Amino acid sequence: MSQGIIHHYRKYLPIAEEAIVTLHEGSTPLLPAPRLAEKIFPGIELYLKLEGLNPTGSFKDRGMTYALSKAVESGARGVICASTGNTSAAAAAYAARAGLKAIVVIPEGKIALGKLSQALMHGAVVYTIKGNFDQALVLVREVAATGKVIIVNSINPYRLEGQKTAAFEICDTLGDAPDYHVISVGNAANITAYWAGYKQYHREGKVLTKPKMLGFQASGAAPIVLGRIVKNPETIATAIRIGNPASWKPALAARDESGGLFDKVTDKEILQAYRMLARLEGYFCEPASAACLAGLLKLAKKGFFKKGDRIVATLTGHGLKDPDTAIKNSGKVKRISPKAGEILKGL
Ligand code: F0G
Repeated sequence: MSQGIIHHYRKYLPIAEEAIVTLHEGSTPLLPAPRLAEKIFPGIELYLKLEGLNPTGSFKDRGMTYALSKAVESGARGVICASTGNTSAAAAAYAARAGLKAIVVIPEGKIALGKLSQALMHGAVVYTIKGNFDQALVLVREVAATGKVIIVNSINPYRLEGQKTAAFEICDTLGDAPDYHVISVGNAANITAYWAGYKQYHREGKVLTKPKMLGFQASGAAPIVLGRIVKNPETIATAIRIGNPASWKPALAARDESGGLFDKVTDKEILQAYRMLARLEGYFCEPASAACLAGLLKLAKKGFFKKGDRIVATLTGHGLKDPDTAIKNSGKVKRISPKAGEILKGL
């Protein structure tokens, strides 16, 4: 059993032993998805990196274990972040584990319920603003500049260092890099981190190849695809409802260096992929995570893939984070009279 990514990838994540704050994150499954692959493009090999199975239910735990450990090492009293939900959940949990204060700033009314419940349960101070994530991040940067608290958004370099370990795990499991890595993009840190991880393993000779990075944004929040800031980003995938990504430039570099691409998918396409995954493979991710699967479907329809292509898709967060969206966009509960005959009608 892994004791978390810092212990597992110690040489990449240097830190004083006594400062380590971990919930034993990482070592997430790389699940083959043959039924979904068949629907997307017969003959491709598709693997799902189930990041929703991290301790707080999203990939954010990888960056947060290292950011909080470094905060402890530096003698910090508290941490702060802006968030569309998952970062705040992870920051709150790891701060609790470390015995530090966490302050989180979230956009009003646009946070999935599960994520809000996590931040509150872990005892974070939760502030909401009448604005979006981008505005919350500006505010949080200003507060962090006072030096009184440490920012644990992905502009904290330790976040990206931690998140790189997902790429290491994929290479360690497959024995090489995949042909394509597909991922949903919001603030653009995760795609940046994965690419850095793949490059590092390649440099060290641990893998012979590097994947092409395919990033997908929601069409109402697609600044990188459009090449301009989106002032009022809107999408059902609230986790990626971001109009001015902090890691915009390095994400473009990841695309260009890898020979990949960015594209956008509509909310309708996201919801379709979201249901498809749950029904074909028995795995439930949150809407933002499904954007990358919607992207795969879109590319496959254009004849982008060929037989034998090996694709890894990161499913960034667990479906239970956002039960409202799931219930509104799936089957209906039917009221029946309590008779066996009634029940068998559903078969
Ligand atoms: N998927 C999920 C479930 C997310 O929570 C996020 C980002 C992303 C994808 C996009 O990752 O920002 O590195 O490109 N969530 C952040 C948050 C912004 O505050 O929880 P990214």
